[in-house]
Amino acid sequence: MLNAEKKTSKYNEQLCQYYEQFKVYRDKVLVLSNDSLEKTIAVALALCLVCAVLVSLATVALRPLQSYNKALDMKKNILDVAGLLQDNTDIDQAFKERIESKIVDLKTGEYIDSINADDYDQRKAAKDPAQNELIPVDKDIASIRMKAKYTKIYLVKKGDQLQSIILPVNGYGLWSTMYGFLALEPDAQTVQSINLYDQAETPGLGGEVVNPIWRALWKGKKVYSDKGDVALTLVKGGVDESRADAVYKVDGLAGATLTSRGVSNLVQYWMGAEGFATYLNKIRTKG
Ligand SMILES: Cc1cc2nc3c(=O)[nH]c(=O)nc-3n(C[C@H](O)[C@H](O)[C@H](O)COP(=O)(O)O)c2cc1C
Repeated sequence: MLNAEKKTSKYNEQLCQYYEQFKVYRDKVLVLSNDSLEKTIAVALALCLVCAVLVSLATVALRPLQSYNKALDMKKNILDVAGLLQDNTDIDQAFKERIESKIVDLKTGEYIDSINADDYDQRKAAKDPAQNELIPVDKDIASIRMKAKYTKIYLVKKGDQLQSIILPVNGYGLWSTMYGFLALEPDAQTVQSINLYDQAETPGLGGEVVNPIWRALWKGKKVYSDKGDVALTLVKGGVDESRADAVYKVDGLAGATLTSRGVSNLVQYWMGAEGFATYLNKIRTKG
């Protein structure tokens, strides 16, 4: 008999012994009065054990479905900011047909083709000491403390034609770190849309970052001034459209100055030299 087979049969024998002991104990407990302390405890323990097994099985069995739904939700957020999400959109198919994921080295602004973008989890990478970098306090405008060295961006294409550049952004608001995407035109300068899909600001105040009316105000705004500085910012009270710099300004959220400041800060950080400025500059100059 092989070693492995011997081990299995020994294991089975032991299991049978345990089962026999369990049957003896079960029969002893079952004949006890329902009011007895021993029976009450035994039934409670058995119930706990059954529930624990059921919960564990459900967790393990549902894990692949959870991962799939998480990935699907992210694709939905990306299609949303790309303006490609309708009620009847087949998310997987639309994403496959129209979106190309790429990894960008923030320092050089170059694509890193050796990393498979589909398997890359940027939020995990940002927390992993092997893959992240700490942001010096004086440069941490968005109050995020650390970031992934390599960033996953998304290019929206129709055939060979580039239609949007979708950049992940995050920054602290009043209560929470807001995570989202900023979609730019192929000119790497004009905003198409913003989608702060994960945040915990107060609904009705800072939480209005998800309001489609406010989000629509971003369309057509410009990120960089003629000098190349990040000029896009939120303004308290509202934008004076008659002013020449209105194209760099978005209405702040009423009663939520601190969240609005957080959004301005995250734009300033991620569009700046510490973020995507090098990459976007390359797109603008090289095309
Ligand atoms: C319960 C509560 C929740 C609040 N939530 C937010 C919020 O999510 N974002 C925000 O900027 N301000 C929030 N505020 C208001 C801030 O404390 C602060 O007053 C406000 O940002 C100032 O904005 P204003 O100058 O536009 O009034 C909240 C206040 C309270 C009492």
